[in-house]
Amino acid sequence: MSDSIDLAAFPPDFVWGTATSAYQIEGAVAEGGRAPSIWDTFSHTPGRVDNDDHGDEACDHYHRWPEDIALMRSLGTNAYRMSIAWPRVLPAGDGPVNAAGLDFYDRLVDGLLDAGITPNITLYHWDLPQALQDRGGWTTRETAEHLAAYASVVAGRLGDRVTRWATLNEPLCSGWIGHLEGRMAPGLTDLTAAVHASYHLLLGHGLAAQAIRAAVPGAQVGLVTNHSTVEAASTRPEDIAAATRMDGHTNRWWLDPVYGRGFPADMRELYGVALPERPGDLETMTVPLDWHGLNYYFPVTVADDPAGPVPYAREVRLPDVPRTGMDWQIDADGLETFLLRLTDDYGVRRLYVTENGSAFPDTVGPDGTVDDPERTRYLEQHLGACARAVRKGAPLAGYYAWSLLDNFEWAYGYDKRFGLVHVDYATQARTVKASGRRYADIIRAHRQAHA
Ligand code: FCB
Repeated sequence: MSDSIDLAAFPPDFVWGTATSAYQIEGAVAEGGRAPSIWDTFSHTPGRVDNDDHGDEACDHYHRWPEDIALMRSLGTNAYRMSIAWPRVLPAGDGPVNAAGLDFYDRLVDGLLDAGITPNITLYHWDLPQALQDRGGWTTRETAEHLAAYASVVAGRLGDRVTRWATLNEPLCSGWIGHLEGRMAPGLTDLTAAVHASYHLLLGHGLAAQAIRAAVPGAQVGLVTNHSTVEAASTRPEDIAAATRMDGHTNRWWLDPVYGRGFPADMRELYGVALPERPGDLETMTVPLDWHGLNYYFPVTVADDPAGPVPYAREVRLPDVPRTGMDWQIDADGLETFLLRLTDDYGVRRLYVTENGSAFPDTVGPDGTVDDPERTRYLEQHLGACARAVRKGAPLAGYYAWSLLDNFEWAYGYDKRFGLVHVDYATQARTVKASGRRYADIIRAHRQAHA
């Protein structure tokens, strides 16, 4: 059954997980003392999100979490990557703690542990308290400091039971897509704001990592970043230079400072924006990590585009390549390549794939089942790539499929379904898709191989 995936490559204690994030699944945005985040504001601004969808109800996970834990169990997973909604815990971003918000996550963590599922908690998966955005959000240094204070509060409460922590999810999306491209909250299109936000996000990462360690002796602290392999569209020197710029923008800008190389000089020059640097910041950003989380979805191919937006590299749509329902190119080799780059170039000692998955337009069959062969194939191909990377030396300790549930896919709303479990938003009924059953089979086969 699993002959296409070299499951024996994975160590016996390999972590098999699923991933979600708070705003995408919780709903209950006005319950339990939660205040709005930038995603509430953004999604309620007409025209920002497809169909003007928003996360007000989402998957109603806030109320249905026991059922969702049962689903994780039914898949045989032993880990779950989730995020905490900052505005549930600290509605004003700083200041008073909302006890009801912390209590919710306390119960959730206990429920997971009772089910034999290890939580991997991301502190910041994009839902900045709107109150902090009103004070400048990530363009200000204070937000980085507030992230650390928030990290102390959450780690202080949950750290007796949770050891695996991530500071940020995909700072690239917060920085570039939120402040430069404007397609995500807070929806700005301002290069200076974006560069400053990127700086403060990485500073916040370092400060929060220190705060978690101070609160939780023995914490395993990591950072989750998203990457794409970048190819030049041709052998023209201009296109090759464009690929170097895109690689700088997408990959090196987010990894070099964290792994002791500082911000890449070529990109600093390209952006032409003075960084809000202070002595010691780089050391903070370079705090040693226990693990790195890679989110990988697709590769990109680029051509030179001198008149286009930063980084003057235009994405070229390759004809005749397989694509997901997001129109993202499917290329599992890119996952192998990037795991090895993190291992060999950046010296990462422990890796997780913290997100990987695909959206396709699923349909519920007349018998109530959801047959999703394309998602199943995507899963198999990418796990195969993970196994190859492990054979070549990548210290990969686990894989978290994105996502447990169909959910609010940010600016794409509810039409894009990434779940291993289908959600009927009218009834909130959950149905494990064929891909979810396949994942369960793979997990079982791996356990048997090591039994
Ligand atoms: C990633 C996000 C995650 C989800 C997937 C499809 O960029 O981290 O929340 O939306 O993409």
